[in-house]
Amino acid sequence: MSIEFSLFDPAKAYGGRKQFDCAHTVINKFVHDSLVSQVKRQLSVAYVLTESDQNDRFVGFFTMAHHAIDASSLSKLQLGSLPRMVPCARLIMLGVDQNFKHQKLGSRLMKQALAITKESSSRMGCYGLYLDADPGAVGFYQKLGFALLEGDKNPEPSPMFITMRSI
Ligand SMILES: CC(C)(COP(=O)(O)OP(=O)(O)OC[C@H]1O[C@@H](n2cnc3c(N)ncnc32)[C@H](O)[C@@H]1OP(=O)(O)O)[C@@H](O)C(=O)NCCC(=O)NCCS
Repeated sequence: MSIEFSLFDPAKAYGGRKQFDCAHTVINKFVHDSLVSQVKRQLSVAYVLTESDQNDRFVGFFTMAHHAIDASSLSKLQLGSLPRMVPCARLIMLGVDQNFKHQKLGSRLMKQALAITKESSSRMGCYGLYLDADPGAVGFYQKLGFALLEGDKNPEPSPMFITMRSI
């Protein structure tokens, strides 16, 4: 089984994209119905893991975009003085098909997302990577170095952040 990472091409037919199932209803629906148009309209960029020897089967993905967050959201991280709006990257969606879970593919996708964030920061101001975590995925992101932005309020979803200097 050879699983490859690449930029998502909205003009390309990926095997099984319409059957993608990461056990998260909103993310599944996004992949089935909205991913192609979002990328075509340049509202986000997507990256995929595909099984190259299986008709480029759609195995996992994430989407990213530019973002800015209010510095007050970062106060818990004690980062010192910051401008009111802090430029960053945002991970919008992430999912790995249930048939491929627990094979470190989610981590592989996230390492790529962090590398892209780092590369962007060398060309445009970018203080870190922001995401709204599903409560069930907070532990997954914490293992990668993300910090929860809201103490123990446990909002749904949970905003999380990793600074460039931690990447
Ligand atoms: C979250 C998700 C992307 C993880 O993908 P995965 O390929 O199964 O994860 P990995 O195999 O890379 O796991 C890496 C580590 O995180 C842990 N982990 C995985 N999912 C976790 C979770 N939901 N909570 C806590 N830890 C988790 C694994 O046990 C593993 O730990 P280890 O390094 O100590 O062995 C996947 O479960 C998924 O698609 N979930 C549904 C969609 C979703 O919740 N997306 C995120 C929305 S913000």
